[in-house]
Amino acid sequence: MISPYIYYALVGAFCATWALRARRRSNLLPPGPKPLPLIGNILDMPREKEWFTFAEWAMEWGKLVSVNVLGQTMIIVNSVDVGLELMANRSGNYSERPDIPMAELATYTESMTGAIQYGTYTFFRHRTHIHKAVGTPAAVRQYEEALELEVGLFLGEVMRKPEQLHAHIKHMVGSSIMRIAYGHESQQNDPLIRLANIVMEEFSLALAPGTYLANMIPALTHVPAWFPGAQFKKTAQKWAKNTRRMQDEPFEVVREQMRQNTAQPSFTSRLLTRNPNPSPQEEEAMKSAASSLFGGGSDTSSSSIHAFVLAMLLFPDVQRKAQAELDAVVGPDRLPTFADRKDLPYIDAMVLEILRWHPVVPMGVVHRAKEDDMYEGYLIPKGAILLPNAWFMLNNPDTYPEPRKFDPERFIATETHKPAPDPTDSCFGFGRRRCPGRLLANSSIFIACARILASFNIEKAKRDGKVVEPVIEQTTGIISHILPFECSITPRSAQAARLINEFSS
Ligand code: HEM
Repeated sequence: MISPYIYYALVGAFCATWALRARRRSNLLPPGPKPLPLIGNILDMPREKEWFTFAEWAMEWGKLVSVNVLGQTMIIVNSVDVGLELMANRSGNYSERPDIPMAELATYTESMTGAIQYGTYTFFRHRTHIHKAVGTPAAVRQYEEALELEVGLFLGEVMRKPEQLHAHIKHMVGSSIMRIAYGHESQQNDPLIRLANIVMEEFSLALAPGTYLANMIPALTHVPAWFPGAQFKKTAQKWAKNTRRMQDEPFEVVREQMRQNTAQPSFTSRLLTRNPNPSPQEEEAMKSAASSLFGGGSDTSSSSIHAFVLAMLLFPDVQRKAQAELDAVVGPDRLPTFADRKDLPYIDAMVLEILRWHPVVPMGVVHRAKEDDMYEGYLIPKGAILLPNAWFMLNNPDTYPEPRKFDPERFIATETHKPAPDPTDSCFGFGRRRCPGRLLANSSIFIACARILASFNIEKAKRDGKVVEPVIEQTTGIISHILPFECSITPRSAQAARLINEFSS
C-alpha cells in the first residue's frame, strides 16, 4: 500500500505543476486589467454600453485585451487586421458561438442563424439559402423594386404623421423584410410583424448575460419546469412557441398561395420552387432561414436609419450637400431610384459614414475559439470568447480623424486625399459568420436616405419659437438603438409633397 506521505507528496506535486502551468498560460494571455482570484475581472466589467469602457482599454492595452469573468476568458479584438486574421483567415478555429442555455431552451440554437452552432446541417443550409437570396449584388437587385415601394409608402406615413417617425422607420424596415422573405404585403399594425417583433425582443432577452441565472449556471436547465423557481423554463417554452408560429404561419401562407398561383416572388417562394417536396429536415431549414432574415435584418437596419436622421439633424451642412447632389442628379420631378446610385457619390459615401458613425452592433456578435491558438506570442485558449470591438475599430482616431464628426467625405477619394478604410470590413462581423445580409442592408439604407433627403428637410424641433435641442441617448445590448428624439421633418416643397402623395397612395 502506498504511504500517505508519498500520496500527499504526489497530490502536492500535481497541484503545483497544474498551478504553474495555469500561471504560465495566464502569463501568455493578451494584456488587460488585473484579475482578482476566483472572480477575475467581474468588478472591472462595465454594466452597460461596454464599448465605451472597452475603447479606453484598447487605448491602454492595444489590439488584443483579455479579461477573465468567473473563469471564462474573453478576448476583446480592437483592430480590423487582427479580427480578419483570427476570424477570417483562421475561421476554422473561430466560427463557433458560445453555448447560451436560455437560447437553447427556447430553440433559438436550432432556428436563428446567428445562434445556430457552426458546422451543423441547419447552419450550412441557412448560410447557403441566405447567400443565394441576398449574398450577391445581382441577388439583391431582385429586391430593389420592393425596397423602393416600401420607402415610397413610408414617405407618405411620415408626411401624414411626422411625430411617429421612429415607429414609421421600424415598420418600413420590417415590412420590406416581410415582402422579401414571403412576398407579404403588410398593413399598419400588421399581426405578422407584431409577432416577429415580439420574438426578437424575447431573443434578445435570452441572450442578455445577466437576466437569467440559467445562462450563468447551465446545470439549472436540468431542473424540471414544475420545480419552484424554474419559471425560466416556462418562459423559454413560451418563447419557443412564438418562434414556431413565426416560422410556420407565413411559410404555410406562401405554400398555399403557390398552390393557387397567387404567390408573389419571395425568398420562400423561390426555395419552394427549387425544391417543392423538401425533407422534414430541409423544410425546417427553409422555414427558419426565412424567419432569420427578419431576425438579422429588421432591428439592425432600422437602427442605422434612425442614426441617419439624427446625423442630419446634428450636421445640417451634410444634409444640404446631399440634397444639392440629389437636386442636380434627380431633379424635383421624381424620387431617386437605385438606377441613380452610380451618379450619387456623396449619398453613397453617406451610407458608409452612417455604418461607421453609429455601429449598430457595437461589440459585434461573439465567436468562440475551438482550440488553443497563438497570435503574435499571445495565447488564445480553447473556449475563449472573442468580442470584436466594432465600435472602437470604427471610432479609432488614428483610422478616422475626428471620429464623432459625421463626414461622408472621408470616404471620397480626391487627388490629395485617400479614402478612409471601408467600415463594412468590420461593422458586419468577420469570417464565415460575417453578416450574410450586408448587401441588402447597404441597399436599404441607401434608398431610405436618398428618398428621405429628396422629400424632406430634417431640422431641430421648435417649441414656442425656441429650438429644442435633441436629447441623444442610445440603448445598450447587442444591437444599439438611438432612442427617439424630437425633430421637425417637413416636405421640402409643394412639389415634394405632391410626389410623396403620388408614391404612397
Ligand atoms: C445595418 C445593418 C446590419 C448590420 C450592422 C449587421 C451586422 C451583423 C453582425 C455584426 C453580425 C454578426 C457577424 C459575426 O458573427 O461575425 C450579423 C449576423 C447576421 N446578420 Fe446582419 N447586419 C445588418 C443587417 C442584416 C440584414 C438586412 C440581414 C438579412 C436580411 C442580416 C442577417 C444576418 C444574419 C442571418 C446573421 C447571422 C449570421 C451567422 O451567425 O452566421 N443582417 N449581422
